[in-house]
Amino acid sequence: MQEIVHEIKSWIYEASERIRASIASNQLTVCTKSYRTDLVTNIDKETQDFLMTKIKNFDPTAKVLGEENNQNHLTDFSGTVFIVDPIDGTMNFVLEQENFCLMIAVYEEAKPSLGFIYDVVKDVLLWGGPSIGVYRNDERIDAPANKGVAEGLLGVNAGMYGTNFAHVREIGNMALGVRMSGCAGVELIALILGKRIGYISNLSPWDYAAGGVLLQTLGLKMSNISGDALNLSDREFFVAGTPKAYEEMTRLLQKDEKVS
Ligand code: IPD
Ligand code: CA
Ligand code: CA
Repeated sequence: MQEIVHEIKSWIYEASERIRASIASNQLTVCTKSYRTDLVTNIDKETQDFLMTKIKNFDPTAKVLGEENNQNHLTDFSGTVFIVDPIDGTMNFVLEQENFCLMIAVYEEAKPSLGFIYDVVKDVLLWGGPSIGVYRNDERIDAPANKGVAEGLLGVNAGMYGTNFAHVREIGNMALGVRMSGCAGVELIALILGKRIGYISNLSPWDYAAGGVLLQTLGLKMSNISGDALNLSDREFFVAGTPKAYEEMTRLLQKDEKVS
């Protein structure tokens, strides 16, 4: 376990040096993917290639599920699977040059083993897993206080909040405030560090895989908004929170489902 943790951290720090250098050189190639606000840059793609090479050199038998470069579909989760989001929050990366993360998860036989979320600009790495606990850089951390919705801030997806999709705006109004960072990694770090009571969004597997390992290790809750386990294959409406806030949020998120 120590060896793989050490390896992955070294990849993350090396990749991040390249990402920081790309910001400094101010030479990004930005393209859209499926819609106007769905961006990808040369750095997203290069970072994923870099990580792919490192993974394959480390473990040639491992499978990789990653957002870019046509690696975004995997049906066989047997053995060791790495799930990679080379830059989470690409819009922020392009327009803000901050509030983006690099995320890597390791699953063994479809079970969470390790998660790493690195806020590149803040230099905050949350990492760990069920057998080793969770760390912020070098310091071991405990689960945040089990606060309810009314006692903290809620991270939300702007579209879901704006349309009050599945009562999300009402949940936001119960909280002390809402935050929309535009980066799942930033929100999940904030949740794990006790700066949010929950996070509601629409996420792909690489958006929640790493954070999911850490949340579960600390006893925080996550699922799709119907309360089912996330499937690691499709984009899903996502909810995570402290146990107390999660119960309160899912009650409202599922209010309209309980008609039959
Ligand atoms: C996106 C961000 C955003 C979330 C989107 C994700 P990307 O990731 O995490 O906060 O709302 O659903 O796709 O595309 O920038 O890696
Ligand atoms: Ca992402
Ligand atoms: Ca991404």
